Amino acid sequence: MRRTIVIASLAVVGMVAAACGSSTGGANQSSTNQSSSSSGGSSETAKAGGAGGNVGVFTWWADGSEKKGLDALVKLFGEKFPNDKFVNLAVAGGAGSNAKAKLAADLQAGNPPDSFQGHAGAELTDYINNGQILPVDDLYKAEGWDNVFPADLLARLTVGGHIYSVPSNIHRANVVWVNNKVLTKAGLDPKAAPKDIAAWIADMDKLKAAGISTPLSVAGTWTQVELLETVLISDLGVDGYNGLFDGKTDWASADVTKGLNDYKTLLTYANTAADGDDWPGATDAVIDGKAAYNVMGDWAVAEFASKGQKDGTDYSYWAVPGQDGVYDFLADSFTLPKGAPNAEGAKDWLRLIGSDQGQHDFNLAKGSIPARTDIKPDDFPPYQQWAMGEFQKDKIVSSIAHGAAVNLGWGTEISQAVSQFYGSKDVAALQAALVTAAKSNIK
Ligand code: BGC
Repeated sequence: MRRTIVIASLAVVGMVAAACGSSTGGANQSSTNQSSSSSGGSSETAKAGGAGGNVGVFTWWADGSEKKGLDALVKLFGEKFPNDKFVNLAVAGGAGSNAKAKLAADLQAGNPPDSFQGHAGAELTDYINNGQILPVDDLYKAEGWDNVFPADLLARLTVGGHIYSVPSNIHRANVVWVNNKVLTKAGLDPKAAPKDIAAWIADMDKLKAAGISTPLSVAGTWTQVELLETVLISDLGVDGYNGLFDGKTDWASADVTKGLNDYKTLLTYANTAADGDDWPGATDAVIDGKAAYNVMGDWAVAEFASKGQKDGTDYSYWAVPGQDGVYDFLADSFTLPKGAPNAEGAKDWLRLIGSDQGQHDFNLAKGSIPARTDIKPDDFPPYQQWAMGEFQKDKIVSSIAHGAAVNLGWGTEISQAVSQFYGSKDVAALQAALVTAAKSNIK
């Protein structure tokens, strides 16, 4: 039995704040071979599949190790649905940093792809409340998925008794990736996690003394938001952190101030980053021995693997100090947009996403663990086997940076505050901005 995923319920507001910027073209593939079109109705019964035509799928898995995950799905899609032609609409930029604004503009312009990647939780609830995606209950019934996905995950994808997307995976955001050689050289045990943030900072001093000038690697704004959320989890504890999203924890409290100060201190051990720097550079800094630590979601393990790194020998991993037994959760989940040009083809894609083989092949390549509960861990490398075990027993919290805890508008406000802080290092101003953002989003 899985324990409950504790995710604060959110009042989801209005249209996506990030839906700005200009769009010069639709999200849709140009096609002379669209086999069917949809007026946006959702009530057709699921057919056996193999609709035919182009199937345009929008993700941000555009390059590197993330693309390998997508490629595993595309290969299987070609085998299972040979009449369908996958069209890759990926927009590069980790965590959807560029993709989400483009998607929002396309959806607003009535120009949706056939399916798009979203995050389980508040972010997908945004699209549902905006009337931009359709229920896929019929697929769940036909494929028997109600029994293979965790009920508490399905609850995060359900609104008004209908389920609106198909989860492909579960990722963990609060992982520290460690260069073994660098730590050993500084007299530190790479496999032993410091007990809290203070002990971790003390280890960073030892690393500095050993000649590692920036022990911690960071990239652009969303990776800083991810780092910040993990510091808040450590300093506030699980209940305190969860309370940030339903008003039970005051963003103006002294505990949050402590978290923000710890975050500020951590940044003094990190490299300089520009807003748009993407995550592979930060993870590669650990691989290359330029940094000792990177806090990154477990898509990083695919990067280590793609660079020939050996688990346990070259690198280690542990939960961010002070949160052993806590799983900072997020899940990618695929949708059926209203007005998808090839709704039947989109359903084929969703069939693949939810299938046992799809979940097996994709997660093997992606670093995440299957959302389905019936995939055996045996085929998976050590990291994922460890993560599957942890997910079963840990307390689960929701990621801010990856759309599980906060809706798109709130996430944008937090990102702007974190980006400004990176320049100003003004804790009081950051906290004030976070308080304002919470006030306008917690109803
Ligand atoms: C997604 C992951 C992706 C990561 C980095 C997250 O928001 O859920 O699938 O690998 O961003 O791009």
